[in-house]
Amino acid sequence: MLGWKIQLAPSKGDARLTVVSSIKHIFNEIHYEITKTIAEGGMGVVYEAIQRGTGKFAKKVAIKLIREEFSAIREFRNNFIGEARLVADLIHTNIVQTYHLGEINSQYFMTMEYVNGINLEEFYHQHRLTNQQVPVDLGVFIISRVCRGLSYAHTKEDDQGRLLGIVHRDVNPKNIMLANEGDVKLTDFGIAKALDLMYNVEGEVIAGKDEYLSPEQANYEITDARADIFGCGIVLAELLLGYNIFEADSPEETRKNILELTIPNFCLLRTDVDDKLNVVLHSALQRSRNDRYQSAAEMLIATETYLYSDGYGPTNEKLALYLKDLYGENGKYAAARWAAGETPGLR
Ligand SMILES: Nc1ncnc2c1ncn2[C@@H]1O[C@H](COP(=O)(O)OP(=O)(O)OP(=O)(O)O)[C@@H](O)[C@H]1O
Ligand SMILES: [Mg+2]
Repeated sequence: MLGWKIQLAPSKGDARLTVVSSIKHIFNEIHYEITKTIAEGGMGVVYEAIQRGTGKFAKKVAIKLIREEFSAIREFRNNFIGEARLVADLIHTNIVQTYHLGEINSQYFMTMEYVNGINLEEFYHQHRLTNQQVPVDLGVFIISRVCRGLSYAHTKEDDQGRLLGIVHRDVNPKNIMLANEGDVKLTDFGIAKALDLMYNVEGEVIAGKDEYLSPEQANYEITDARADIFGCGIVLAELLLGYNIFEADSPEETRKNILELTIPNFCLLRTDVDDKLNVVLHSALQRSRNDRYQSAAEMLIATETYLYSDGYGPTNEKLALYLKDLYGENGKYAAARWAAGETPGLR
Protein backbone atom coordinates (compact mmCIF):
# COMPACT_ATOMS: atom_id res chain seq x y z
CA MET A 1 0.00 0.00 0.00
CA LEU A 2 1.27 3.42 -0.89
CA GLY A 3 1.61 6.09 1.70
CA TRP A 4 3.51 9.25 2.40
CA LYS A 5 6.19 10.26 4.76
CA ILE A 6 6.07 13.87 5.69
CA GLN A 7 9.33 15.64 6.44
CA LEU A 8 9.81 19.20 7.43
CA ALA A 9 12.25 20.92 5.11
CA PRO A 10 14.14 23.53 7.12
CA SER A 11 13.68 27.00 5.80
CA LYS A 12 13.55 30.34 7.51
CA GLY A 13 10.20 31.04 9.07
CA ASP A 14 8.47 28.77 6.59
CA ALA A 15 8.29 25.07 7.32
CA ARG A 16 7.56 23.51 3.96
CA LEU A 17 6.41 19.94 3.68
CA THR A 18 8.32 17.64 1.40
CA VAL A 19 6.91 14.28 0.57
CA VAL A 20 9.81 11.84 0.47
CA SER A 21 8.45 8.34 0.74
CA SER A 22 5.68 6.40 2.38
CA ILE A 23 4.13 7.30 5.67
CA LYS A 24 3.13 4.48 8.00
CA HIS A 25 2.08 6.06 11.26
CA ILE A 26 1.04 9.36 12.64
CA PHE A 27 1.28 9.69 16.40
CA ASN A 28 -0.34 12.72 17.79
CA GLU A 29 -1.64 13.47 21.25
CA ILE A 30 -5.18 14.72 21.26
CA HIS A 31 -6.17 17.43 23.65
CA TYR A 32 -9.74 17.39 24.96
CA GLU A 33 -10.91 20.26 27.04
CA ILE A 34 -13.87 19.28 29.21
CA THR A 35 -16.40 22.09 29.09
CA LYS A 36 -19.45 20.69 30.83
CA THR A 37 -20.89 17.62 32.56
CA ILE A 38 -23.86 16.53 30.50
CA ALA A 39 -25.18 13.71 32.66
CA GLU A 40 -24.24 10.90 34.95
CA GLY A 41 -25.42 7.48 33.83
CA GLY A 42 -25.05 3.99 35.22
CA MET A 43 -21.85 3.27 33.36
CA GLY A 44 -20.14 6.59 33.74
CA VAL A 45 -20.25 10.31 33.28
CA VAL A 46 -20.89 11.98 29.94
CA TYR A 47 -19.06 15.25 29.34
CA GLU A 48 -19.20 17.88 26.66
CA ALA A 49 -15.68 18.63 25.49
CA ILE A 50 -13.74 20.53 22.88
CA GLN A 51 -11.20 18.60 20.86
CA ARG A 52 -8.40 21.03 20.11
CA GLY A 53 -6.20 20.81 17.06
CA THR A 54 -3.64 22.88 15.29
CA GLY A 55 -4.32 26.57 15.05
CA LYS A 56 -7.82 27.34 16.09
CA PHE A 57 -9.23 23.96 15.13
CA ALA A 58 -11.86 23.03 17.69
CA LYS A 59 -14.51 20.36 17.49
CA LYS A 60 -17.21 19.72 20.02
CA VAL A 61 -17.37 16.09 21.12
CA ALA A 62 -19.04 14.05 23.85
CA ILE A 63 -16.85 11.97 26.16
CA LYS A 64 -18.08 9.09 28.24
CA LEU A 65 -15.76 8.29 31.09
CA ILE A 66 -16.40 4.76 32.28
CA ARG A 67 -16.67 4.40 36.04
CA GLU A 68 -13.55 3.27 37.82
CA GLU A 69 -15.36 0.27 39.29
CA PHE A 70 -15.99 -1.07 35.80
CA SER A 71 -12.64 -0.11 34.33
CA ALA A 72 -11.00 -1.99 37.20
CA ILE A 73 -12.54 -5.32 36.20
CA ARG A 74 -10.36 -7.05 33.65
CA GLU A 75 -13.16 -9.01 32.06
CA PHE A 76 -15.23 -5.91 31.58
CA ARG A 77 -12.25 -4.12 30.09
CA ASN A 78 -11.69 -6.87 27.55
CA ASN A 79 -15.33 -7.04 26.59
CA PHE A 80 -15.67 -3.31 26.41
CA ILE A 81 -12.70 -3.01 24.12
CA GLY A 82 -13.96 -5.92 22.02
CA GLU A 83 -17.39 -4.38 21.63
CA ALA A 84 -16.00 -0.91 20.96
CA ARG A 85 -14.00 -2.43 18.12
CA LEU A 86 -17.17 -3.89 16.63
CA VAL A 87 -19.11 -0.65 16.81
CA ALA A 88 -16.24 1.61 15.74
CA ASP A 89 -17.27 1.40 12.12
CA LEU A 90 -20.97 2.00 12.65
CA ILE A 91 -21.43 5.13 10.62
CA HIS A 92 -25.04 6.05 10.12
CA THR A 93 -27.19 9.15 10.60
CA ASN A 94 -29.35 7.38 13.16
CA ILE A 95 -26.45 6.19 15.31
CA VAL A 96 -24.20 8.28 17.55
CA GLN A 97 -20.79 7.71 16.06
CA THR A 98 -17.92 6.52 18.24
CA TYR A 99 -14.69 8.38 17.44
CA HIS A 100 -12.15 7.01 19.84
CA LEU A 101 -11.60 4.68 22.75
CA GLY A 102 -8.88 5.82 25.12
CA GLU A 103 -7.48 5.18 28.54
CA ILE A 104 -6.35 7.60 31.16
CA ASN A 105 -5.01 6.49 34.54
CA SER A 106 -6.47 3.03 33.87
CA GLN A 107 -9.88 4.50 33.30
CA TYR A 108 -11.53 4.10 29.93
CA PHE A 109 -13.12 6.87 27.99
CA MET A 110 -14.94 6.98 24.72
CA THR A 111 -15.23 10.03 22.56
CA MET A 112 -18.23 10.29 20.34
CA GLU A 113 -20.27 12.54 18.17
CA TYR A 114 -21.77 15.34 20.22
CA VAL A 115 -25.54 15.50 19.90
CA ASN A 116 -26.89 18.97 20.51
CA GLY A 117 -30.35 18.13 21.70
CA ILE A 118 -32.27 16.07 24.23
CA ASN A 119 -32.85 12.43 24.98
CA LEU A 120 -36.22 10.82 24.44
CA GLU A 121 -36.98 10.67 28.15
CA GLU A 122 -36.58 14.44 28.38
CA PHE A 123 -38.81 14.74 25.32
CA TYR A 124 -41.78 12.98 26.83
CA HIS A 125 -41.16 14.46 30.29
CA GLN A 126 -41.57 17.85 28.67
CA HIS A 127 -44.93 16.68 27.36
CA ARG A 128 -45.99 15.44 30.77
CA LEU A 129 -44.84 18.67 32.36
CA THR A 130 -46.97 20.69 29.96
CA ASN A 131 -49.89 18.27 30.10
CA GLN A 132 -49.77 17.18 26.47
CA GLN A 133 -49.33 13.91 24.60
CA VAL A 134 -46.59 13.24 22.09
CA PRO A 135 -48.21 13.54 18.63
CA VAL A 136 -48.81 9.99 17.39
CA ASP A 137 -47.14 10.47 14.01
CA LEU A 138 -44.04 12.03 15.57
CA GLY A 139 -43.74 9.15 18.05
CA VAL A 140 -43.94 6.64 15.20
CA PHE A 141 -41.49 8.70 13.15
CA ILE A 142 -38.93 8.69 15.97
CA ILE A 143 -39.17 4.91 16.32
CA SER A 144 -38.97 4.45 12.55
CA ARG A 145 -35.61 6.29 12.63
CA VAL A 146 -34.44 4.07 15.49
CA CYS A 147 -35.39 1.02 13.41
CA ARG A 148 -33.39 2.46 10.52
CA GLY A 149 -30.27 2.73 12.69
CA LEU A 150 -30.85 -0.72 14.16
CA SER A 151 -31.36 -2.29 10.76
CA TYR A 152 -28.03 -0.91 9.60
CA ALA A 153 -26.21 -2.14 12.73
CA HIS A 154 -27.87 -5.56 12.78
CA THR A 155 -26.83 -6.26 9.21
CA LYS A 156 -23.34 -4.80 9.43
CA GLU A 157 -20.65 -7.12 8.09
CA ASP A 158 -16.89 -7.18 8.52
CA ASP A 159 -14.46 -6.70 5.65
CA GLN A 160 -14.76 -10.36 4.72
CA GLY A 161 -18.52 -10.15 4.47
CA ARG A 162 -19.21 -11.95 7.76
CA LEU A 163 -22.13 -10.68 9.81
CA LEU A 164 -20.83 -8.93 12.92
CA GLY A 165 -23.89 -9.94 14.93
CA ILE A 166 -24.32 -6.55 16.57
CA VAL A 167 -27.34 -6.27 18.87
CA HIS A 168 -27.97 -3.18 20.98
CA ARG A 169 -29.75 -4.88 23.93
CA ASP A 170 -30.53 -1.65 25.75
CA VAL A 171 -32.96 0.27 23.55
CA ASN A 172 -34.46 2.73 26.02
CA PRO A 173 -35.46 6.42 25.94
CA LYS A 174 -32.20 7.61 27.50
CA ASN A 175 -30.23 5.95 24.75
CA ILE A 176 -32.22 7.68 22.02
CA MET A 177 -31.26 11.28 21.30
CA LEU A 178 -33.13 13.94 19.38
CA ALA A 179 -30.83 16.52 17.86
CA ASN A 180 -32.21 20.04 17.60
CA GLU A 181 -32.06 19.65 13.82
CA GLY A 182 -34.55 16.78 14.10
CA ASP A 183 -32.14 13.86 13.68
CA VAL A 184 -32.89 10.80 15.80
CA LYS A 185 -29.79 9.02 17.08
CA LEU A 186 -29.31 5.81 18.98
CA THR A 187 -26.38 5.73 21.40
CA ASP A 188 -24.55 3.20 23.59
CA PHE A 189 -24.16 0.38 21.10
CA GLY A 190 -22.18 -2.46 22.54
CA ILE A 191 -22.15 -1.33 26.13
CA ALA A 192 -24.91 -3.61 27.37
CA LYS A 193 -23.25 -6.50 25.55
CA ALA A 194 -19.94 -5.78 27.26
CA LEU A 195 -21.66 -5.93 30.62
CA ASP A 196 -23.41 -9.14 29.64
CA LEU A 197 -20.21 -10.77 28.57
CA MET A 198 -18.52 -9.89 31.82
CA TYR A 199 -20.11 -13.02 33.16
CA ASN A 200 -19.18 -14.80 30.00
CA VAL A 201 -22.31 -16.85 29.69
CA GLU A 202 -24.89 -14.79 28.02
CA GLY A 203 -28.17 -16.05 29.27
CA GLU A 204 -27.14 -16.05 32.92
CA VAL A 205 -26.78 -12.39 33.55
CA ILE A 206 -28.70 -9.72 31.76
CA ALA A 207 -27.83 -6.18 30.98
CA GLY A 208 -30.24 -3.45 30.08
CA LYS A 209 -32.85 -1.75 32.19
CA ASP A 210 -35.54 -4.05 33.60
CA GLU A 211 -38.49 -2.19 32.15
CA TYR A 212 -37.05 -2.32 28.62
CA LEU A 213 -36.02 -5.96 28.49
CA SER A 214 -37.27 -8.34 25.87
CA PRO A 215 -38.97 -11.49 27.22
CA GLU A 216 -35.94 -13.54 26.17
CA GLN A 217 -33.63 -11.27 28.18
CA ALA A 218 -36.00 -11.34 31.15
CA ASN A 219 -35.96 -15.12 30.82
CA TYR A 220 -32.15 -15.27 30.78
CA GLU A 221 -32.14 -16.69 27.27
CA ILE A 222 -29.61 -15.96 24.56
CA THR A 223 -30.72 -12.94 22.60
CA ASP A 224 -30.56 -12.01 18.96
CA ALA A 225 -31.38 -8.86 17.01
CA ARG A 226 -35.09 -9.40 17.53
CA ALA A 227 -34.66 -8.38 21.20
CA ASP A 228 -34.16 -4.81 19.97
CA ILE A 229 -37.50 -4.95 18.13
CA PHE A 230 -39.29 -5.62 21.41
CA GLY A 231 -37.40 -2.66 22.92
CA CYS A 232 -38.68 -0.47 20.07
CA GLY A 233 -42.20 -1.65 20.83
CA ILE A 234 -41.87 -0.74 24.52
CA VAL A 235 -40.45 2.71 23.76
CA LEU A 236 -43.10 3.42 21.10
CA ALA A 237 -45.89 2.46 23.51
CA GLU A 238 -44.31 4.64 26.18
CA LEU A 239 -44.04 7.61 23.82
CA LEU A 240 -47.71 7.31 22.93
CA LEU A 241 -49.06 6.64 26.42
CA GLY A 242 -46.60 8.59 28.55
CA TYR A 243 -45.77 5.57 30.70
CA ASN A 244 -44.07 2.22 30.37
CA ILE A 245 -46.73 -0.49 30.33
CA PHE A 246 -44.46 -3.01 32.06
CA GLU A 247 -42.98 -0.87 34.80
CA ALA A 248 -43.93 -1.98 38.31
CA ASP A 249 -42.75 -1.18 41.83
CA SER A 250 -40.01 -3.79 41.88
CA PRO A 251 -37.66 -5.20 39.23
CA GLU A 252 -39.13 -8.67 39.84
CA GLU A 253 -42.68 -7.51 39.15
CA THR A 254 -41.51 -5.57 36.12
CA ARG A 255 -39.89 -8.67 34.69
CA LYS A 256 -42.97 -10.70 35.45
CA ASN A 257 -45.01 -8.13 33.54
CA ILE A 258 -42.64 -8.41 30.59
CA LEU A 259 -43.21 -12.13 30.57
CA GLU A 260 -46.92 -12.21 31.33
CA LEU A 261 -48.81 -8.93 31.13
CA THR A 262 -51.55 -8.98 28.52
CA ILE A 263 -50.53 -6.50 25.85
CA PRO A 264 -53.36 -3.96 25.79
CA ASN A 265 -55.42 -2.78 22.87
CA PHE A 266 -53.72 0.58 22.44
CA CYS A 267 -56.74 2.03 20.62
CA LEU A 268 -58.57 1.86 23.95
CA LEU A 269 -55.78 3.68 25.80
CA ARG A 270 -55.45 6.52 23.35
CA THR A 271 -58.23 7.45 20.99
CA ASP A 272 -56.02 8.69 18.16
CA VAL A 273 -54.19 5.36 17.96
CA ASP A 274 -55.90 3.47 15.13
CA ASP A 275 -56.10 -0.25 14.39
CA LYS A 276 -53.17 -0.11 11.98
CA LEU A 277 -50.87 1.34 14.60
CA ASN A 278 -52.21 -1.08 17.19
CA VAL A 279 -51.14 -3.91 14.87
CA VAL A 280 -47.66 -2.39 14.54
CA LEU A 281 -47.32 -2.20 18.34
CA HIS A 282 -48.57 -5.75 18.83
CA SER A 283 -46.27 -7.07 16.12
CA ALA A 284 -43.27 -5.52 17.88
CA LEU A 285 -44.42 -6.71 21.30
CA GLN A 286 -44.96 -10.37 20.44
CA ARG A 287 -43.43 -12.43 23.24
CA SER A 288 -42.40 -15.25 20.98
CA ARG A 289 -39.70 -13.78 18.79
CA ASN A 290 -40.78 -15.91 15.86
CA ASP A 291 -44.10 -14.06 15.86
CA ARG A 292 -42.47 -10.63 16.17
CA TYR A 293 -41.23 -8.49 13.29
CA GLN A 294 -38.29 -10.58 12.15
CA SER A 295 -35.98 -7.66 11.49
CA ALA A 296 -35.63 -3.97 12.20
CA ALA A 297 -36.05 -3.46 8.45
CA GLU A 298 -39.47 -5.10 8.64
CA MET A 299 -40.52 -2.81 11.47
CA LEU A 300 -39.07 0.16 9.60
CA ILE A 301 -41.26 -0.64 6.59
CA ALA A 302 -44.34 -1.12 8.80
CA THR A 303 -43.83 2.22 10.56
CA GLU A 304 -43.10 4.06 7.32
CA THR A 305 -46.12 2.51 5.63
CA TYR A 306 -48.21 3.70 8.56
CA LEU A 307 -46.74 7.18 8.29
CA TYR A 308 -46.59 7.77 4.57
CA SER A 309 -49.24 5.65 2.84
CA ASP A 310 -51.62 8.64 2.83
CA GLY A 311 -49.02 11.08 1.54
CA TYR A 312 -46.52 13.47 3.03
CA GLY A 313 -45.69 12.72 6.69
CA PRO A 314 -43.16 13.66 9.37
CA THR A 315 -39.57 14.48 8.47
CA ASN A 316 -36.45 15.49 10.38
CA GLU A 317 -37.12 19.10 9.51
CA LYS A 318 -40.67 18.92 10.84
CA LEU A 319 -39.49 17.27 14.05
CA ALA A 320 -36.97 20.10 14.45
CA LEU A 321 -39.76 22.67 14.12
CA TYR A 322 -41.85 20.79 16.65
CA LEU A 323 -38.96 20.67 19.15
CA LYS A 324 -38.46 24.40 18.79
CA ASP A 325 -42.14 24.99 19.38
CA LEU A 326 -42.30 22.56 22.33
CA TYR A 327 -39.46 24.31 24.13
CA GLY A 328 -40.59 27.76 23.06
CA GLU A 329 -42.54 30.34 25.03
CA ASN A 330 -45.94 28.83 24.37
CA GLY A 331 -44.77 25.22 24.35
CA LYS A 332 -47.75 23.86 26.24
CA TYR A 333 -49.83 24.17 23.05
CA ALA A 334 -47.20 22.66 20.75
CA ALA A 335 -49.02 19.32 20.34
CA ALA A 336 -52.32 21.07 19.58
CA ARG A 337 -50.61 23.31 17.04
CA TRP A 338 -48.97 20.27 15.48
CA ALA A 339 -52.34 18.49 15.17
CA ALA A 340 -53.81 21.57 13.49
CA GLY A 341 -50.85 21.87 11.14
CA GLU A 342 -49.98 25.21 12.71
CA THR A 343 -46.50 24.55 14.08
CA PRO A 344 -44.52 27.73 13.32
CA GLY A 345 -42.42 27.31 10.19
CA LEU A 346 -44.36 24.30 8.97
CA ARG A 347 -45.96 26.10 6.08
N1 LIG B 1 -23.12 11.75 22.32
C1 LIG B 1 -23.85 12.44 23.18
N2 LIG B 1 -24.06 13.77 22.98
C2 LIG B 1 -24.79 14.47 23.85
N3 LIG B 1 -25.39 13.95 24.95
C3 LIG B 1 -25.23 12.64 25.19
C4 LIG B 1 -24.44 11.82 24.33
N4 LIG B 1 -24.46 10.56 24.82
C5 LIG B 1 -25.21 10.59 25.93
N5 LIG B 1 -25.67 11.83 26.17
C6 LIG B 1 -26.54 12.26 27.28
O1 LIG B 1 -26.01 11.78 28.48
C7 LIG B 1 -26.98 11.02 29.17
C8 LIG B 1 -26.32 9.95 29.98
O2 LIG B 1 -25.83 8.98 29.12
P1 LIG B 1 -25.33 7.58 29.64
O3 LIG B 1 -25.33 6.66 28.49
O4 LIG B 1 -24.11 7.74 30.41
O5 LIG B 1 -26.41 7.16 30.70
P2 LIG B 1 -27.85 6.59 30.53
O6 LIG B 1 -28.14 6.34 29.07
O7 LIG B 1 -28.75 7.53 31.23
O8 LIG B 1 -27.78 5.25 31.29
P3 LIG B 1 -26.85 3.98 30.91
O9 LIG B 1 -25.58 4.19 31.67
O10 LIG B 1 -27.64 2.84 31.40
O11 LIG B 1 -26.65 4.01 29.44
C9 LIG B 1 -27.92 10.51 28.08
O12 LIG B 1 -29.18 10.19 28.57
C10 LIG B 1 -27.94 11.68 27.13
O13 LIG B 1 -28.90 12.62 27.54
MG1 LIG C 1 -26.84 5.46 27.78
